[in-house]
Formats: sequence, structure tokens, C-alpha cells
Amino acid sequence: MKLFLDTGDVEEVRRAAAWGVIEGVTTNPTLIAKSGKGFRETVLEICGLVPGGAISAEVVATDYDGMMKEALEISSWHEQIVVKVPMIEDGMRVVRTLADKGIRTNVTLVFSVSQALLAAKAGASFISNFVGRVDDLSGDGMEAVAATVEMVEDYGFKSEVLVASVRHPQHVADALEARAHIATMPYKVLAQLFKHPLTDTGLQRFIDDWNAAGLSIFEKAKV
Ligand code: E4P
Repeated sequence: MKLFLDTGDVEEVRRAAAWGVIEGVTTNPTLIAKSGKGFRETVLEICGLVPGGAISAEVVATDYDGMMKEALEISSWHEQIVVKVPMIEDGMRVVRTLADKGIRTNVTLVFSVSQALLAAKAGASFISNFVGRVDDLSGDGMEAVAATVEMVEDYGFKSEVLVASVRHPQHVADALEARAHIATMPYKVLAQLFKHPLTDTGLQRFIDDWNAAGLSIFEKAKV
């Protein structure tokens, strides 16, 4: 399973990219608005920080012509850009047109396997299945993920299932169990994946024992 960062904050991308574990970044209009910087400038900076990674940038029009115009503009900025398109009727028309032109798309705001089927049929490169927003309403967001992965694998669709709206490390573990292809998450959740109390206490003990023995990796050879 690939790990993507879900952010419009370039500094967060810089820090996470340095860990060498992320293979893409997802943005959305809310995250870009929060960044306080221009859309093109932000997305291009992110492309530079994650070489070869898939960087999702979303259209904001909701009609076919408007979305197509925005999609062609956004995709012209950089070859790493994946155009994010909402799961609506005109959106799937856009996805089909872009797929026929060889432009990658990420269908966003997918909550059910039936929506995912339409996205896969339209030729989506990525299907963003939101889990946290369903869990927030006392549902089980991961159910649709598991069903979508099964559908994509069983029927041989080329789309990758991307678990979005991730709120905590357990969502990441659940995404692995559902055999999802990608999980995208906020910086805070990615950083939480490092954490285990036994790692901290174990490391402290190794260092204390080493220092108490007066050892050094760079000790001089005895003559
Ligand atoms: C996905 O690509 C979206 O940007 C994101 O995961 C939405 O998450 P939220 O529900 O935390 O806003």
C-alpha cells in the first residue's frame, strides 16, 4: 500500500518527503484555501518535493465544459499532476474524456461501491473513498473500501483504490486489511505512525546502557 500525504501545506510535504516514505500528495480546494498561497504555485512546489509522485489537484467547476477547461489547465502545469474530479454525472463524463486523452484522474467524494463502479468504468486512475466522514456519522467507512478493492481486483479494473479522509493510525491499519492500494492522510496521522511507547522506552534503555559502559563506535584502536 502506498502512502500519500493529504495537505496543501508545502512545509508539511517537505518534512514528510524527507522521511522517504510518501509516493504522492492529495490536495483539495479546502486544503489549498487553508495554505494561503496560490493554487498553481503550491501544486508545482509539491511536485518538486515529491519527484515522480502522483500529485492530485482538484477542479472546482461542476459542469462538463467548466471542469474540462480547468482540468486541461491544471494538467498542463506538470506531468505528475492528477486531476481530481468529483463523483457527479458531468464529472464522470470529464473522467472518460481525460482518460481517452491519457490524462490521469482521481475521482473524489466516493462513499459507496456503486459510485466506485462508475468511477472505474469511466477510467479513473484513482478512486478516493472517504472513510472518516462516514465514521463521523456513526457509519463504517471502511466497508465501502473493502467492497471497492474486491470489485477492482475481481473484475480487473485498472483504478487504484485510495483511502481518503483518514483520521488516525487505525484507519491506516484497516486500509491495509482491506488491501487498499493507497492511503492518504494528514501530516499529523503520518507522524503518528512512527509512535509506539515501547520504541521510546526501548531506545532510551539502549542509549543508557551504552553510555554507562563508556563505549564508543568511533573508539581508537588500542596500541
Ligand atoms: C482526499 O483526497 C481528501 O482531500 C481528504 O482525505 C478529505 O479528508 P477530510 O474528510 O479529513 O476533509
